[in-house]
Parts: sequence; C-alpha cells; structure tokens
Amino acid sequence: MTATLTRPLTVTEAIQTRRSVRKFVPEPMNQEDLREILRLASLAPTANNVQPTRFAVIQNPELQAKLQEAAYGQAQVTSAPAVIVVYSDMEDVLARAEETVHPGMGEEQIKTRAEGLRQNFVQQDVAQRGQWGLTQANIAFGFLMVAARGLGYDTVPMLGFDPEKVRELLGLPAHVQFAGMLPIGKRAEEGFPHHRHSVERIATFY
Ligand SMILES: Cc1cc2nc3c(=O)[nH]c(=O)nc-3n(C[C@H](O)[C@H](O)[C@H](O)COP(=O)(O)O)c2cc1C
Repeated sequence: MTATLTRPLTVTEAIQTRRSVRKFVPEPMNQEDLREILRLASLAPTANNVQPTRFAVIQNPELQAKLQEAAYGQAQVTSAPAVIVVYSDMEDVLARAEETVHPGMGEEQIKTRAEGLRQNFVQQDVAQRGQWGLTQANIAFGFLMVAARGLGYDTVPMLGFDPEKVRELLGLPAHVQFAGMLPIGKRAEEGFPHHRHSVERIATFY
C-alpha cells in the first residue's frame, strides 16, 4: 500500500487538483485513510443535523464487476481498489431519531426533539422525504471527493448506473436515494484539465 501523504493538501489544493480519474493504480486502499476520508465526509452539515447520508464501501472485485455491469460497463468501477456508494436513508433517520440529538441535551430534551423531528416529516410521503434526504447526501458527496483528494486519493463521481440494480446488489431497501457512486484510489492517468465557466458567466453580484 502506498504510504499516506506527509501532510494533507490544503482545501484549496485539494479542490484545484481534483479531477475525474477513471484509471487507478491496482493496489488496495490504505484502510486508515479510507476511514479518515469517510469521517471527514461525515462532518458535512445537514439541516437540523439529521445526518441521513450512508456510505456503502465496496472492496470486493466480484461485487465491483457486478456494479460495473449495473453502471453500463464503465471500467473505472473495477479499475479502482474501492467504490463508495453514497445514499440517503431518511427512514433510518426517523426510526432512530434520538441519535440525531446531542447527548448533552439530557433525556427529556432528546425525546422531545426526536419527536419534533418525526413530526416535521409526518406530512411527507416516503418519496418526498427521500428527495429531501438526497439534497443533504449530495453535500456529503462533495465533501467526500475533496476529503479524498486532500489525503492524496483520486475519484470519479458517477450517476451513470441503474439504481434498481445497484439497490439489489447492495441489498438496500427501496426507499434509499443515491447521491452517486465513487470509485476511489491512486491515479494511473492524469484526467482532463478543468474546463469551467468564468466567474463572470455564473455569478451575479448584487
Ligand atoms: C453527479 C455526477 C455524475 C457523474 N456521472 C459520471 C458517470 O457516470 N461516468 C463518468 O465517467 N463520469 C461521471 N461524472 C464525471 C463528470 O463527467 C466530470 O466531473 C466533469 O466532466 C468535470 O470533470 P472533472 O471532474 O475532471 O473536473 C459525473 C459527475 C457528477 C458530478
């Protein structure tokens, strides 16, 4: 396994040097780095701190081959030593709403706040809640890519897959919503230089 960086990249360096990489060095992920990347992604903010984002971490060539099929044959799914599928699970959040309240609040407050959270979503159906949870998971998906790059890894965000097939392969319930699939490892190609709109094109200053 490749040694970890002597120092993490700055946020600016990580954002500047991240680019989609679709060919990876065939060596396993450093497991400590992998956990640290997931921990950093878990620090992404969520509304009311509901934390609906979940990570399915796959480091299994056979399962990756099946995921590649579900991703219309995209080769990066088996080239990478690991694939992280990021999804939101609002039903899990509501089933265990107490977990989202800071333990320092005390038992009564935890109960009241957890009930309040359930009430907030009682008017919505499973699909609406799922969609709302997805907006939160998308933020963590962004953090995940930057955290990975910060520790010297490369990724490619992917939505080009059949969600029903991925759900089945990972044994996930029908209500979960996918933010994306993220092959991760060390780059074996440079990827493309950034091609982006200018700030003037996309920003309006008031
Ligand atoms: C939500 C999302 C879904 C994407 N899906 C795919 C995909 O299925 N396959 C793929 O090769 N690239 C995919 N991409 C990568 C984009 O093509 C890439 O991010 C974009 O061209 C900008 O290039 P860069 O990431 O190198 O800056 C996806 C990117 C995002 C953000």
